[in-house]
Amino acid sequence: MAPAALLQRDVPLHRLNTFGLPARAAWFAAIETPAQLVALIATPEWRYLQRFVLGGGSNLILTGDFDGLVLHARIAGRELIAEDDDAWTVRAGAGECWHDFVCWTLERGWPGLENLALIPGTVGAAPIQNIGAYGLEMAERFQQLEAVDLATGETVTFDRSACRFGYRDSAFKREAAGRYLVAAVTFRLPKRWRPLTGYADVARELETRKIADPTARDIADAVIAVRSRKLPDPARIGNAGSFFKNPVVDAATFARLAARYPEMPRYAQPDGAVKLAAGWLIERCGWKGKNLGPVGVYEKQALVLVNRGGARGEDVLRLARAIRESVRAMFGVELEPEPVVL
Ligand code: EPU
Repeated sequence: MAPAALLQRDVPLHRLNTFGLPARAAWFAAIETPAQLVALIATPEWRYLQRFVLGGGSNLILTGDFDGLVLHARIAGRELIAEDDDAWTVRAGAGECWHDFVCWTLERGWPGLENLALIPGTVGAAPIQNIGAYGLEMAERFQQLEAVDLATGETVTFDRSACRFGYRDSAFKREAAGRYLVAAVTFRLPKRWRPLTGYADVARELETRKIADPTARDIADAVIAVRSRKLPDPARIGNAGSFFKNPVVDAATFARLAARYPEMPRYAQPDGAVKLAAGWLIERCGWKGKNLGPVGVYEKQALVLVNRGGARGEDVLRLARAIRESVRAMFGVELEPEPVVL
């Protein structure tokens, strides 16, 4: 297809973000191969257009129409690219559905991603915020990714250290934000696998199922059950997963808070800092199950904001601001939003 034929004008985005927020893109292109993108980058119009790369839209708050070009990453494919004594090395296109990819690895008997089952979004989006759940972060299984540099059209390979992964964070949310379209991601799935069942909700679920020695599939099933109970299905209730990161406070701040709230959940960090549970803080401020206009705080998990119907980006931001102010006033703790706000 000629590059110009890829470009669509004035495209609605409400079905392309899991919060179901209304917004339009002035220009839109579905990218199915890296070559299509490279051809687009070579056109004269390219450098005049502001760009935004969209994956599954599950970690995105759209605050209004986007006057530039939305690039929808739809690159498909998944394959075993190597196998040695230690690991299976598996590569997937950025547009693959994350959960389907996890299930595909498990069906083939390659464990390692089971704790990340049912996370919404695409493979290409997974490294952007280093998705994590139930004691595992994607970074631990990540080998490398290939991304197209949107300024030059060159394909660049990023290994783990180049991605600078952190908690729900990577270079692609900071210094490299907006510069690349992730085309494919490669994972190393360990042959010497051990189950990660330390997280209380998953341990309890396995116990209920009377599974003492779980397979990777058993863990995926337990994770799916826990997630389905606690988190709203974006196909039914618009949401973007956890709306805030769990805040990390220094030891002195934590000591002050713990003296006052001994029951406060806490996760000690290697450097002496302490991660707090944002959902607990928000619930304590009385927000759980409450609405502000068409946006609400999910009744089963206070860290998730939900679309009660007809919400706009500004409604989401208004509730997020009100929650941050409450938490600041009550605990002196700053909450930082997790999704990308456009
Ligand atoms: N809690 C409450 N009230 C609430 C919610 C939570 O008191 O309304 C308490 C829980 O009882 C528990 C603690 O807070 O003691 C932690 O809650 P939970 O296990 O539900 O996990 P979370 O810290 O709220 C994080 C991730 C989730 C991930 C789960 C499981 C972040 C920002 N969120 O949530 O990730 O699924 O752990 O690992 O780190 C996402 O990033 O979008 C996401 C859903």
